[in-house]
Amino acid sequence: MPIAFTTAGELPHDLDALGIPVFAGLEPLPGVPVEIDRRFCEQRGFEAKAGEALALQGDDDVTVVVVGLGALEEVGRETLRKAGAAFARTSGHAAAAAFSLPGARPAGVDAGTAAEAVVEGIALAAYEFTTYKGRARPTGLERLSVVGDDAAALGAGVVRGARIAEAVCMARDLVNEPAGAMTPRRLADVARELADRHGLSVTILDEVAIASEGLGGLAGVAQGSDEPPRLIELVYQPSSPAPGVGDGHVPTVALVGKGITFDSGGLSIKTADGMMTMKTDMSGAAAVLATMSALADLAVAAKVIAIVPTTENMPGGRAVKPGDVLKIRNGKTIEVLNTDAEGRLVLADGLSLAAEAAPDAIVDVATLTGACVVALGRQIAGLMGNNEDLVGQVRGASERAGEPVWHLPLPEEYRKGIESEVADMKNISSPAGAGGALTAGLILGEFVGDVPWAHLDIAGPARSDADEGYTHKGATGFGVRTLIELASQFAAPRRETPAHR
Ligand code: BES
Ligand code: MN
Ligand code: ZN
Repeated sequence: MPIAFTTAGELPHDLDALGIPVFAGLEPLPGVPVEIDRRFCEQRGFEAKAGEALALQGDDDVTVVVVGLGALEEVGRETLRKAGAAFARTSGHAAAAAFSLPGARPAGVDAGTAAEAVVEGIALAAYEFTTYKGRARPTGLERLSVVGDDAAALGAGVVRGARIAEAVCMARDLVNEPAGAMTPRRLADVARELADRHGLSVTILDEVAIASEGLGGLAGVAQGSDEPPRLIELVYQPSSPAPGVGDGHVPTVALVGKGITFDSGGLSIKTADGMMTMKTDMSGAAAVLATMSALADLAVAAKVIAIVPTTENMPGGRAVKPGDVLKIRNGKTIEVLNTDAEGRLVLADGLSLAAEAAPDAIVDVATLTGACVVALGRQIAGLMGNNEDLVGQVRGASERAGEPVWHLPLPEEYRKGIESEVADMKNISSPAGAGGALTAGLILGEFVGDVPWAHLDIAGPARSDADEGYTHKGATGFGVRTLIELASQFAAPRRETPAHR
């Protein structure tokens, strides 16, 4: 059951738990409604570091949880998300809770932003995926009130934070669902349901239409599977145009998500270990669909187009073979030398379709390469692109959203590594094993025409192996917050700013 988030000027009655933020040195925020027992905290080694929390016994059976914020000068949105998460994890099975956010707060974090971040942290930490668990779980947080003096500002932040967290949890659910259940057809049904519920227009291409529309990359990858592929397109049209837009042009961004519902590697088959988590290979698709679900509620002013090519990658008797050549939607051909490099093949079609729609920008999100995990680890996504302005917008959005990315180059000199003997390019690079995230990025760049484009390789952060802060073992929903923030602030990028290549 989702948590009901509200705002209040004073502490509600009948609380089970109350969160009190404190700065390093055990300095409470001015105006918090309860006195804190410093000696008790010190005895237990609580230092109020960011992400630290300690439960105290309060009056009237209320568990008071002191929540660390770290040093005042360093408090930002991410500190507050971590504080919310620490509170949710420490307040145990409290059903009714409040979190105190009194007026005085660190510079640069206004009331709405602070409330939004705290609520995100709480809701994301409270997430569970229990669909396939037999035993009933103990109940968790049901109601949470953010308490402070500027209720109007807090309230707007609470609503926004709760809505964004709901979208992230939706993406997590889609990814955590087993591949046997979350097939391409099921994903297309999810898109139809979203369109119905949130007023989006939807187009689904089935396997016949995929072939007749010339989506040879998607059709090629799907050949080895008994499950048919789908191409999902959703369009969000804002009801009120962006302020200050005189010429009637609505800034438009296309989001493309990799939707491999299971990646066995195909005939270039993965190892058992390498395959274990490959239901996660539709995390880009999940991030894009979840983003689309929230745009209307958040009154986003930009137009947003979502394109999700989705299929399994399996080694069946009709599977694409190393050496086969596929013809992509935009007419370019790709020699498939490794069937496990399938993401770029389906994205090539997705990006071609996105470019045809002539948006102001294209952003794709994909669990694309193990090489990106080697380069940046499990918590940072790779960011590549062909336009400095757009790359800057994505980077800024990711910083505000608390989803770290690192800008990687797309070096012109590396392009010769993907030259093919027989086709326009091949799907892997020689020499093998060097700069694999960049090779994949270079291939994707062949399908966006001259549209400003950015690529997020989320192979590392899409999944977590730890229950920590506001993430859980399994799907993280990485990308949703960045895409929502990007769409919320989107402005057509200046064309004359090619990114470093
Ligand atoms: N889905 C994988 C990438 C991946 C790896 C995601 C690990 C998450 C964790 C992708 O389709 C893939 O298999 N890429 C290959 C490309 C190679 C064959 C050029 C890889 O990274 O090994
Ligand atoms: Mn693969
Ligand atoms: Zn893959």
